[in-house]
Formats: sequence, structure tokens, C-alpha cells
Amino acid sequence: MSEIRFPENFYWGAATSAHQVEGGNINDWSKWEKGNAEELARKSKTYWQDWQKEKYPEMLQSRNYISGQACDHYHKFKEDFDIAKELNHNAHRFSIEWSRIEPKEGFIDEKEIEHYRQVLIALKERNIEPFVTLYHWTLPNWLAEKGGWLNPKAPYYFDRYVKIVSENLFDYVNFWITINEPNVYASNSYLKDNWPPQNKSIFKYFKVLNNLAKAHKLAYRALHLIDLECEVGIAKNNIYFENIPFIDCFWNKYFLNKIKNEQDFIGLNYYHPFFKNNALLNSDLNWRIFPEGIYHVLKKLKKYNTPIYITENGLADVSDKKRTNFIKDHLFWIHKAIKDGIDVRGYLHWSLLDNFEWDKGFWPRFGLVEVDFKTFERKIRPSAYEYAKICKDNKIDL
Ligand code: FCB
Repeated sequence: MSEIRFPENFYWGAATSAHQVEGGNINDWSKWEKGNAEELARKSKTYWQDWQKEKYPEMLQSRNYISGQACDHYHKFKEDFDIAKELNHNAHRFSIEWSRIEPKEGFIDEKEIEHYRQVLIALKERNIEPFVTLYHWTLPNWLAEKGGWLNPKAPYYFDRYVKIVSENLFDYVNFWITINEPNVYASNSYLKDNWPPQNKSIFKYFKVLNNLAKAHKLAYRALHLIDLECEVGIAKNNIYFENIPFIDCFWNKYFLNKIKNEQDFIGLNYYHPFFKNNALLNSDLNWRIFPEGIYHVLKKLKKYNTPIYITENGLADVSDKKRTNFIKDHLFWIHKAIKDGIDVRGYLHWSLLDNFEWDKGFWPRFGLVEVDFKTFERKIRPSAYEYAKICKDNKIDL
């Protein structure tokens, strides 16, 4: 058996986001879910294949589409971090929920700042390095009512929120991720009408992308003013496109080019390729599994000349039959990119826990850890133990 070793001090862990795991959030998404759950349940009857409806009958019920208590991670974070520790994770990505920190315009909820301080302390006590996302797609209702990211003042509101968070928490954080997947958010919310605010217009789409870039740049400056040493980046969803250079260039580079002078690292979220190949395996969401794609995507990031952290990579797989190979195969190709000179410094699997998958609701199971959404009981999946060995040994066996 041969082995593949990763660089010293490589970060190993998993990722989550506030709205998907915390429970009890009041924001533009929680509002939208309530108004749209019936419609989403109805649509799923025609959208998904028969095997999926049989395997996941919950997708036909409207309650699947309401985040509610989610994983109750807001109360169970210590228990969840104990699991991460048991699984040898030395890094963890989570997001701070803007609507908790600033539930009303200009009103800062000190209790919630204290909550996230406790979250960070809990990670530090377990020697787990936090990667903190500041915006993972959910907005406080007051801002959504003012037009959300279409509002020309939105970047400045974000800047104000970022300053408050970082003034209070900078001591505990080395790695900040300002914005999660700007292009996925903007295209689902403004190019298609899948997500709130379902405001379809190509003009608005570009306006939102540009405002997100502006918000990132302001936040980048603010974070460095407060803490010179911190590292700031975004989490960018890049896709492997075979032979579609125009789309490749737009989807993978447009946003990164805009912020190229304001990023200390790139967070790469990689899930699937964009081409038809029926020979490839699928996840439960029909996302094609193509580990080699991450190698090509990584190689194309070389020109930005920054360190790269894989901030998301994972699959919906309730049976847990595909997850171990999925992880190992992607790590194989990541390692090949490292050998070719790409500076990859960490891997954060999506996700630590089964969670609320946006407009798909609870049925897609992305967790290393299974969650019973009625009792909130956690059960570690076999693949999580396989991944734990990799995290401990800093290598994969082939
Ligand atoms: C990514 C999102 C993350 C999760 C995974 C499956 O695009 O950033 O929140 O939904 O997909």
C-alpha cells in the first residue's frame, strides 16, 4: 500500500453555516421559507425522480422546507465541537448570523456577540482553528426590506457590522471569510428565481455581484485595520467546465478578479463538474462526482498567487456508501495539485452535520454526522471515522 502525505500543519476539519445548523434564526430566509414551503413541496413532486421521492418522502411535505430548530447547534455547539475533536479535526468553519448581531438597524445585541465569543472559546479550548464566515446568504429583515444587496448602502451596512464583530472577536480569529459564494447567491436570487428575494433581472444580478465585491473590499480593509495579522478571503464556488472557456472564465474568475488585490487567501468550494457523463456516479441530489475536477480548478487559481483553503467539498449521501471514497479521491487530486506547486493549506469538508439545505430543506444528508431532526440526536457516520484517520495521520493510504 502506498501513502500520500500532506504538508505539515495542514488544516483538517469540516464546515457549517449559521442558518443551516443553528435553529431559531429570524432573517430573510426564515421569512421566505414560511411563505414558500407549500410551493416547494408541490414543486418537488415533478422535479425529482421516482427513486428520490421514494427514498426521501419528506421532500413532499412542507415542513421539510422550514428551518425551524435546524440542528439546534445554537445550543449544542459544545457537544458538536466535542465530536469534531473526537474526529481529530484541527479546524472548523462556521458563520456568524448578521440578523442575530444586528436584529434591528443600528441595534447591536451584546448577548449574541457573547454567544459567538463562547463558540470561539469552545473551539480554542479544543485546539480547533476557527474559519469565520461573516455572510453566508442570510440577511437581517430590516436590510432585506430596504432592498438587500441591491441597496447601494448595503456594502456600508455590512462594513459597520463587520467592524462590530471584529472589534469584539478579533482576538480569537485568524481567518475571516467575508462572503460565501457570491456568484451562487446572486444567480439563485437574481438570475433564476429560486431563492429570496426571487428578483429576476440580469441588471440586478450584476448590481448585486458588484455590491458584494464592494462589501468584501470594505470589510477587507476594516478587518486589517483592527488586526494587521489576520487573513481575509472569500469562499468561492468554482466549477470544472470542460471546453466552455467563456462560462469558465465568467463563473470562476469574474469575482476573484474584482477582489484580487484584497484577498490573503482563496477559500475554494468545489462540488461537481459541468458536463454530461452518465458514467459518473451521482450524489443523492444528482450532482455528478468528478474528483479530478478539483485538480483542474485548483491549477487555474495559481495565477492569484495566494494560499488556498478548501472551504467546502462534500456530497449528499444518506447511505454513507460513497462518502469515504469521495473524500479520499478528492484528496488524491488536491495532493496532486500541491505537488504541482499549488499552495493548498487545508480541507474543510461540507459538512460536520446533516443540516438545512436551503430550498431543498432537510432531506439531502451532507453530514459526517447524522442528525435526527426530531430528537436532535447525533450519530457519527462510518465515513467520519475514516476521515478522522486521515486528519490524525495527515495522509491517505491508497
Ligand atoms: C454550498 C453552500 C453551502 C451548502 C453546500 C451544499 O454551495 O455554500 O451552504 O449548501 O453548497
